[in-house]
Amino acid sequence: MPSRVDGPLKVTGRAKYGADNVVPGTVHGYVVVSTIAHGEITAMDVTAARNAPGVIAVYTPLEPLVMQPVQMPMFGGEWWVPLQDKEVIYHGQPIGFVVAETFEQARDAAMTIEVTYAERPAATSIEDGMDTAEMAPVPPRNAPPEITALADGVESIEDALAASPVVVEGTYSTATQHHVAMEPHSAVAVWDADGLTVYTGNQAAMFPAAQLAQALGVEEARVRVVNPFVGGAFGGKAFASAPAFLAAAAARDLDRPVKSALTREQVFTATAGRAGTIQKVALGAERDGTLIAVRHDSWSSTGLDRAFTEPTSHSTSPEWYATQNLAITQRRVPLNVPPVTFMRAPGEAPGSFALESAMDELAIALDMDPIELRLRNNSTGPSGHDLKWSSKYLDECYRIGADRFGWASRSPGGREDGDWLVGMGMATAMFPAGRFPTTIRITFRDDDTAEVATGGADPGTGLLTVMGLIGAESLDIGPDQVKPLLGDSVLPPGGMSGGSTATASVSSAIMIAAAQAIDELTALATSAGAPFEGQEVSYEDGRVVAGGRSMTFGELLRATNRMSISATGSSAPGEETTKHSFSSFGAQFVEVRVHKWTREARVSRMLGVFDAGRIINEKVARSQIMGGMIWGISAALHESLDIEANGRFANADLAGYLVPVNADIPEVDVHFVQYPDTLHNPSGAKGVGEIGVVGMAAAVANAIYNATGIRVRHIPIMIEDLLD
Ligand code: MOS
Repeated sequence: MPSRVDGPLKVTGRAKYGADNVVPGTVHGYVVVSTIAHGEITAMDVTAARNAPGVIAVYTPLEPLVMQPVQMPMFGGEWWVPLQDKEVIYHGQPIGFVVAETFEQARDAAMTIEVTYAERPAATSIEDGMDTAEMAPVPPRNAPPEITALADGVESIEDALAASPVVVEGTYSTATQHHVAMEPHSAVAVWDADGLTVYTGNQAAMFPAAQLAQALGVEEARVRVVNPFVGGAFGGKAFASAPAFLAAAAARDLDRPVKSALTREQVFTATAGRAGTIQKVALGAERDGTLIAVRHDSWSSTGLDRAFTEPTSHSTSPEWYATQNLAITQRRVPLNVPPVTFMRAPGEAPGSFALESAMDELAIALDMDPIELRLRNNSTGPSGHDLKWSSKYLDECYRIGADRFGWASRSPGGREDGDWLVGMGMATAMFPAGRFPTTIRITFRDDDTAEVATGGADPGTGLLTVMGLIGAESLDIGPDQVKPLLGDSVLPPGGMSGGSTATASVSSAIMIAAAQAIDELTALATSAGAPFEGQEVSYEDGRVVAGGRSMTFGELLRATNRMSISATGSSAPGEETTKHSFSSFGAQFVEVRVHKWTREARVSRMLGVFDAGRIINEKVARSQIMGGMIWGISAALHESLDIEANGRFANADLAGYLVPVNADIPEVDVHFVQYPDTLHNPSGAKGVGEIGVVGMAAAVANAIYNATGIRVRHIPIMIEDLLD
């Protein structure tokens, strides 16, 4: 399989990320953040900062860069724009912007700012907020917070549970987390006669361009966002960031290019992260394992802006298993914490920890193999929907996974190996397959290359490489002839790298655009005065062919004195959504070793087997899945953003916020069962961006139970949880 087309640029440091852009005359903006979690700013003494060396301007909510509110049409509500309000609603909220000739001058001046607050008590505990939690409409489709589907004659989910011969119930919780992408959020903003250009890492280009235009009150056509390379995003770069808003507004105010980058510590608070969750799950079953009742009640923390509610129950329980009776609720607990947003498998990642732990507990209560229990409750489509899955090879994932992993050798009580207790666990993974409306422009050039371009982004996913391959296939030319292009809002709208949609969206649109481009080319070939005037031509191998004669598209363009010929093609979700439901599927397997005396838990083997439709480039797809699976181990054993009583994150830096290092991760085995799903889209690809993380944390907890007999219902699982 071909390697990433942008690999050499990245590993040699030549890929230019947002803050790498050097514009003559640039000044530097440093973001100032709040040191309380709740209250009002009553005064900010910025005299010393204004007089500090090199300082050009100091902006605060008292002397703001005026911006307009930004609507989020897809999710309802408004996106937060910095410095518009004296109200502080979380610790680490941007409350100032110091612009100076150098970064160091801006930072040093920022340290001298004295802020006076009228402080109010901060709500910081999701547990304390459970009683007063609000029912939350569920993004992105605004589903009702409460769904109940009962069999005929059943009065309530409680009755269904009471009538179930075997019942398990548990309360599960998952930690607050943060994306912590390698590239901190940053922006370089430049105004000229054409308007504003912002170099900033983002999962799209058109969305931040639209948001900045709204905030600044200028036409969208006058804002260009450029992001050819993005150093990780994972949901945390879906919207314009605080540095982007501030740099753009300050650059206009000062008539100078402004660069701004968050520090690593600021990334944890001045951008949005993942909710903490509490979930109560009850499962009732027949003795043969058939599910009679599933109850899943969820509480997710959110900021006081209520921008996003992590939908843990909705993303799992209605879809994963067939059940006769279902009742789910989703509540949000607004806290004085930074805003919450999507993070890799928002909903499915923490939701699957609860549901898949509960399924393991049910298997144990039934004395049944956990794979067998899952096979017996196969869902043919989401609950309460007539639309069946377009394709589902989950059973094959379980079977192949069990074989590859040696599941048959697992004993219900684990085994011992010297000082280590060894256990195996598994879990299901699912993630919806979707698409974004996408337009692709294809340009044949006279040097026999073809450009395939769209305004989306490759935040490290491999999308650029996939575009090259699908472009080559659709144009019947070599991949080395294709120049994929992404990451600029002036390109045709390309959706976003979010929701695991990009490959399916972009590939479908390329196939349509390629047919258009070939039509344009053959029309040119047969036009008056052209080499194939009046002939019936065909197109193959990058050549126009007729009557035993052929020319490459480059030769044809040169012969007709054209440098290039372009066409666009668009694709969007359509009629297929009225016929089927769409999802990727997977089976996760983990072996853990828990040290008998120190109680340290180590993952010693891991395997994921996935049905994600057609895999276009196995190398980049495998990397996506591996990254997700490793993140699942991280969620299970490492990651937690801990909130102090006053609302400050105790560990908002990469010393305190634990993520796994190479020594924590064994070899990762990834396997794909490949069944192209052309009911979903013409390319047959379903999406691999997020499903890798799903189920992993439960698989670890289930393996730890197998090894030790200790059921831990929260993540991350710590040594102290495993003491006898
Ligand atoms: Mo993402 S969490 O697919 O933006």
